Amino acid sequence: MCGIVGYIGKRGATELLIEGLHRLEYRGYDSAGVAVMNGNGVETRKAAGKIVNLEEALSANPVHGDLGIAHTRWATHGVPNECNAHPHIDCKGNVAVVHNGIIENANVLRAELQKHGHTFVSETDTEVIAHLIEEAFDGKLEDAVIEALWQIEGTYGIAVVSSLDPDKIVAARKGSPLLIGLGEGEYYVASDVSAILAQTREVVYLDDGDVAVLTRNGYTVLDQRAQQLERQVSKIDWDLDQIERGGFDHFMLKEIFEQPATIENCMRGRLLPEEGTSKLGGLNMTDDELLSIDNIVITACGTSWHSALIGEHMIEDLCRIPVEVEYASEFRYRNPIINERTLCIVISQSGETADTLAAMREAKQRGARTYGIVNVVGSTIARETDGGIYVHAGPEIGVASTKAFTSQVMALLLFTLKLGRLRSLGVIRGREIIEKMQELPKQIQEVLDRAPEIEKLADEFKDEVNFLYLGRGYNFPTALEGALKLKEISYIHAEGYPAAEMKHGPIALIDERMPVVFIAPHDSVFDKLMSNVQEVKARGGRVLAITSRAEPDLKGKADYEFQIPETIDLLTPILASVPLQLLAYYIAVKRGNNVDQPRNLAKSVTVE
Ligand code: G6P
Repeated sequence: MCGIVGYIGKRGATELLIEGLHRLEYRGYDSAGVAVMNGNGVETRKAAGKIVNLEEALSANPVHGDLGIAHTRWATHGVPNECNAHPHIDCKGNVAVVHNGIIENANVLRAELQKHGHTFVSETDTEVIAHLIEEAFDGKLEDAVIEALWQIEGTYGIAVVSSLDPDKIVAARKGSPLLIGLGEGEYYVASDVSAILAQTREVVYLDDGDVAVLTRNGYTVLDQRAQQLERQVSKIDWDLDQIERGGFDHFMLKEIFEQPATIENCMRGRLLPEEGTSKLGGLNMTDDELLSIDNIVITACGTSWHSALIGEHMIEDLCRIPVEVEYASEFRYRNPIINERTLCIVISQSGETADTLAAMREAKQRGARTYGIVNVVGSTIARETDGGIYVHAGPEIGVASTKAFTSQVMALLLFTLKLGRLRSLGVIRGREIIEKMQELPKQIQEVLDRAPEIEKLADEFKDEVNFLYLGRGYNFPTALEGALKLKEISYIHAEGYPAAEMKHGPIALIDERMPVVFIAPHDSVFDKLMSNVQEVKARGGRVLAITSRAEPDLKGKADYEFQIPETIDLLTPILASVPLQLLAYYIAVKRGNNVDQPRNLAKSVTVE
């Protein structure tokens, strides 16, 4: 969702803030703004659209100072125009606020503030915060912020400056990530570590309820009764080049090409090949505790939900334990049957998705143990789960998830091996799986080396308006994920379906204008899938088959074929996803779309 960055120190704040915003642009990019203390007071500059527009506004009308806050927005309340862009100010222009999240009682607060004579200029919920702080101000900014926060319902990550208490930034968090970056005589606040990674690697993650006060001499973290708290300093071990494009045209392409390495990273040090199992340092459960689980619920959103579906298949297949997969947004609003013998696995690339976080808390409250499969180290879900496994995919900047997805599937398999070996999985089969897992990085590289073939296929399909993706068994979720990738970045309507289910509806759509992508590797359902290919061909559909061998049955049936290397069934979704990611990527590029920042989407959805 939106991004926040703030700076206090001795250097030019505007340049640092703009650099930080560029690094955050993938989180939200419909408008942006800065507020800088220029020595006399707060000055703001805002612009609708991308950050380059803000840069233009700043070069036409510069603002200088060594303290400021900035924001890149993904609109929730009010259209994305200059007026609704953050920072928002109070009536007298003393207080400036940037905010991620949603203030749920904004309308009530706004009406009350208006009764007290406050004038509002934007349609945003955020503006009420600036006015509440103005109303509460009595000499110390942090006290006024705390008083304002007591009145707010909803979620927030905020950073505030005021010309009435000019040498500080006050930041606060509830439900929306925020961290402090530590430098020498300078401090940062950011919603995401990538905003400040070029400047510092020492950070303090704020927890919900924390209020931080940053001055040039240091920082303090307070609770909402202004009592000082201790917060641990963490060291970030990501490299800067991991958050840069490194010669690729887009982050998404770079991330697709990183998959041989990210898959390797996910497995590194975690396999016990002899014993046919894995060792998971962050599991925090004894073997007896693992054995006491009766059922597993996996909850997630978006692409992570697709990896959950693959995990369900693996775990049920190899561990013989019931697994249910739930959309996090649905799970939290029904009355799920879970108890202390349920393990709730929470999957999230960012570790910050609001619905997933809420689902995890719901599961915890009902007594379940929670286990996170998360990419972003130090994220809220990672910190709040009882145990977990980092997928170690490195920063994922492209909005459409690619390398995080394949690593999530790997992480689920590592967990499956562990639990399976305690339950029903024999050592020989465990060893066999590990052997095949170890071949994956090389096999993914083989697929990537043939990217030009996919690029050619993209030429064939780039002008289509609809797509069907069909798969069975392990590759039904792959079909869903392939379709999602295409819609997200090419804006072509695409649906994923279990191949046989096609007969119960989607078959009516098939004619020569309907391309159908079959995920058809050589697996236990290959023959069944072949009949589905024939059904499509009989109705004139154009078939692209992602298969894993020159299967004589398939020859002449599919119009186009792309072969992936042979592997075991449960690893085919990883190998088959790579050409699907590339297909979506090349089609989107050929249609002239902004692949890394597709319209209306956000990398991390930190609102409900
Ligand atoms: C957003 C992103 C998706 C992502 C989903 C879940 O919709 O655009 O790419 O799959 O959120 O995000 P998470 O960080 O929880 O995996």
